Amino acid sequence: MAHVLSGLKLAVIGCGAMGQALVRGLLGSGFNATDITCTRRDPARLASLAGLGVRVTPDNGAASADADVVLLCIKPQGWREAVLTLRPRPGQIVLSVMAGVRTQALEEALPGTRVARCMPNTPALVGAGMHAYSLGASADPTVVPIVEGILGASGTVAAVVEGIMDAVTVTSGSGPAYLFYLAELMIEGSVALGVDPNLARRLVRETLKGAAELLAQPGADPVALRQAVTSPGGVTAKVMSGLEASGVRETFVRAMDAGKRRAAELAQT
Ligand SMILES: NC(=O)c1ccc[n+]([C@@H]2O[C@H](COP(=O)([O-])OP(=O)(O)OC[C@H]3O[C@@H](n4cnc5c(N)ncnc54)[C@H](OP(=O)(O)O)[C@@H]3O)[C@@H](O)[C@H]2O)c1
Repeated sequence: MAHVLSGLKLAVIGCGAMGQALVRGLLGSGFNATDITCTRRDPARLASLAGLGVRVTPDNGAASADADVVLLCIKPQGWREAVLTLRPRPGQIVLSVMAGVRTQALEEALPGTRVARCMPNTPALVGAGMHAYSLGASADPTVVPIVEGILGASGTVAAVVEGIMDAVTVTSGSGPAYLFYLAELMIEGSVALGVDPNLARRLVRETLKGAAELLAQPGADPVALRQAVTSPGGVTAKVMSGLEASGVRETFVRAMDAGKRRAAELAQT
């Protein structure tokens, strides 16, 4: 665990999928479980969070009042109402994972706090998250090692300018879903061609894992990697030309653009 995190009290407001991914990373890196207080409204699910060793309460106000850092992990829809339940302290760090919600809007809603926003992703669950963050105008440079320490416990961290955060959201935040979708399509295609479903799942899973490892090599380029598998006139070339002819490339860019606009819309709700 980053030294700068030691002794900090953390409140995780809305500890659902993303909150738990970040909390698990922190716990795995040695963060003291009893320094983390998690909230959510559903009593049974809240109680099950206690299994992580963290403190739990349905009371956002109580959780936030004692915290040095408030990790806002609720959905962006209706966030203004939820934030009213917090009891912010001057100088408290508020790190929001909410898609679309601007740091300026959070600073107005939580005056006196030091605000940062981030866009994490769920591979954080296995310590392989890709987390981007931006500081609000209220956040001084001492916030940086704390934000990077929290996010770095479950993945790689990149500082980005806030203006590109919605684009980052549809790149790395939503990105794992695109890969799972591709896996789904590949399995469906394989099964349609007669491969046993269990074998198809294994073939696809190991193929994507191996391909991701190749892509993760220093200097790896997806185009060059793809070309290395594509002999002119061969089998892969036939599949790739079918995909290109279907307009999938343009469709993908359009769909990501629609997602980016949705991020901005959600924050208004
Ligand atoms: N999932 C991803 O891949 C991903 C990636 C990047 C960013 N994010 C961001 O992460 C945030 C959460 O997404 P998620 O996928 O983790 O959703 P989620 O699993 O639904 O988590 C949200 C949690 O907030 C709780 N909650 C809602 N209102 C609350 C309130 N007023 N007080 C306390 N807790 C409340 C919900 O539990 P109760 O219903 O029990 O209250 C739920 O557990 C979103 O803002 C999203 O933009 C998600």
